[in-house]
Amino acid sequence: MNNAARTLPRLGKIGYGGDYNPEQWPEQVWHEDVRLMREAGVNLASVGIFAWAMLEPAPGEYDFGWLDRVLGLLHEGGIAVDLATPTAAPPAWFFRRHPEARPVTHEGHVLGGGARHAFCPSSPAYREAAAGIAAQLARRYADHPAVALWHVHNEYGWSNHACYCDASADAFRRWLRQRYGTLSALNNAWGTTFWGQRYGDWAEIDPPRLAPPGVNPALQLDYLRFSSDEYLDCFRIERDVLHRLAPGVPVTTNFMVPNCKWMDYWKWAAEVDVVSNDHYLQAERLDNHIELAMAADLTRSVARGRPWLLMEHSTGAVNWQPRNIAKVPGEMRRNSFAHIARGADSALFFQWRASRFGAEKFHSAMVPHGGTSTRIWRDVVRLGAELSNLDELVGTRVASDIGIVWDWESWWALELEWRPSFDLRYLDRMSAYYERAWRANRTVDFVHPEGDLSGYQMMLIPSLYLMSSSAAENLAAYVRSGGTLVVSYFSGIVDEIETVHPGGHPGALRDLLGLSVEEFLPLRAGDRVRLERNLTADVWAERLVLAGAEPVLRYLDGPAAGEPAVTRHRVGQGTAWYVSTRLNGRDLDVVLQEAGLTARDGLPDGVELVRRVGDSASYLIAINHTDGDVEVAASGKELLTGAPCHGVLPLPAGDVRVLRAAS
Ligand code: GAL
Repeated sequence: MNNAARTLPRLGKIGYGGDYNPEQWPEQVWHEDVRLMREAGVNLASVGIFAWAMLEPAPGEYDFGWLDRVLGLLHEGGIAVDLATPTAAPPAWFFRRHPEARPVTHEGHVLGGGARHAFCPSSPAYREAAAGIAAQLARRYADHPAVALWHVHNEYGWSNHACYCDASADAFRRWLRQRYGTLSALNNAWGTTFWGQRYGDWAEIDPPRLAPPGVNPALQLDYLRFSSDEYLDCFRIERDVLHRLAPGVPVTTNFMVPNCKWMDYWKWAAEVDVVSNDHYLQAERLDNHIELAMAADLTRSVARGRPWLLMEHSTGAVNWQPRNIAKVPGEMRRNSFAHIARGADSALFFQWRASRFGAEKFHSAMVPHGGTSTRIWRDVVRLGAELSNLDELVGTRVASDIGIVWDWESWWALELEWRPSFDLRYLDRMSAYYERAWRANRTVDFVHPEGDLSGYQMMLIPSLYLMSSSAAENLAAYVRSGGTLVVSYFSGIVDEIETVHPGGHPGALRDLLGLSVEEFLPLRAGDRVRLERNLTADVWAERLVLAGAEPVLRYLDGPAAGEPAVTRHRVGQGTAWYVSTRLNGRDLDVVLQEAGLTARDGLPDGVELVRRVGDSASYLIAINHTDGDVEVAASGKELLTGAPCHGVLPLPAGDVRVLRAAS
């Protein structure tokens, strides 16, 4: 049995469908929904995500009749159900009973109702109520033949990543006791001799609420860790109820990789039975298909390479960006295939039918307001038909060859206040390095700093400000045994408690890179520096002192004029490169290519090729984001057209091909 068959035993095909909110529609529409779902090839619907108030209209009074009928109709129609626990939107009665469960902002405001996600994750009342409704659903639907998956909650931490109420403060103190054991260990870790912040009692420790500038960064960082852990506890509580009462049905919760900065998805992914992710394009960006690819690669990576589910994306425009640019014809299809190429075993959408009321009525859907006479509907039907030919991809693994180190904790720490430059931004460097790999058609895995690096010929570290000593040793072992490592500036500076590594920057990497950074030289907004080989950079420069590394490129002007900007250090069988300034685009390529990141396949920029490999076959997914036709060198059977292919795979402008490669 392949992996996906294990993760979704009751589906076993590429999942197609989306969030289905029948509670917003009269019952006669449900019949039309099922008929249209069948027409579109929908096989999986996520049901009940925000339906708590309809399922439990008053405390302890349940109404499951409507949900019974919905699940029955879907099952008769051959559509599997991803059944949600509705805990992202507690009913109004809950907050009337438990006003203390409302979240409090960093500024001390209590958040009101009328929206969703307005609860404190540490609230005992919330946790109990969430476990209660999850248990009701689990008991009732454990053996329902339609239920293929449990969808716990919805996007933990998205609208509201941390709560600062008194219950949260208590929970934080408990979390700290567990982490540090004693107050003196905490005082040492947090460096509380600075500004006389020493704590003599656990009760003196507060969340990092609105305060004068310069709140202890170690306290802030721990609060972010704590907040991610509190939401994760909420998930675990529900998951354990479902595992106990409905064993055998896998449990997921939808992540938002990488758009939700605040959850440490390395930790989260270890707790779900199957990883699922929601992804929305940054609609105004012309290269948003590259950001999509990065999100998909990161999702697969947190899933440790196992197949994952694309839980939500959109057929067209969303409703919550400043300008909600519509997808052009063909774009939705390319987006869906790009996720599948990078390991998704589903293409699901928010949402099935466009809402007539509520905050999301201007969001696209599979069935738009205009119904079935629309282009979007025709495209939805076409995509469903195409995906139904691809069941053999289920459970296959993505072949990758480049590793990029990713760490949420380092991201959080980097972007606290009072850094050497406001322009030090985690996603800026991640996207810049990822983009070069994407354009070279090299498939990227993201790796935890302490993860297994042995399979990668090349590792990139675009930004890793916070680095533990064991991560540093992991990287050093990787280089010694023959790996190529490229490290960008302001990495390896502090350890996991926000304390500068001793002995000069970058303390965790000095020996490996064969240099030290004597001084950071941030640049003024808009200033640029020139480097040899006609390169230009901005934002950042450094004064390097080499101790074994050789200079590869020098600064020609700016605050480090004449001094090394890019260096190389041979260590054991491998090489560690250092890039001390902010290079982008083709300028960054010059360095990365010299380090070994060469383009594959010789295709024009904008043609995306990814391989998925199974036990008995491998597949090439080719996506043409350009407006010109291209040809890809490949042989096998093309699964969307059924055409055999001998040596040349034609890939028309804007089109997609899926080739089962000749062995
Ligand atoms: C997601 C959310 C959905 C819907 C969607 C709109 O983040 O899970 O419920 O709000 O955004 O794009």
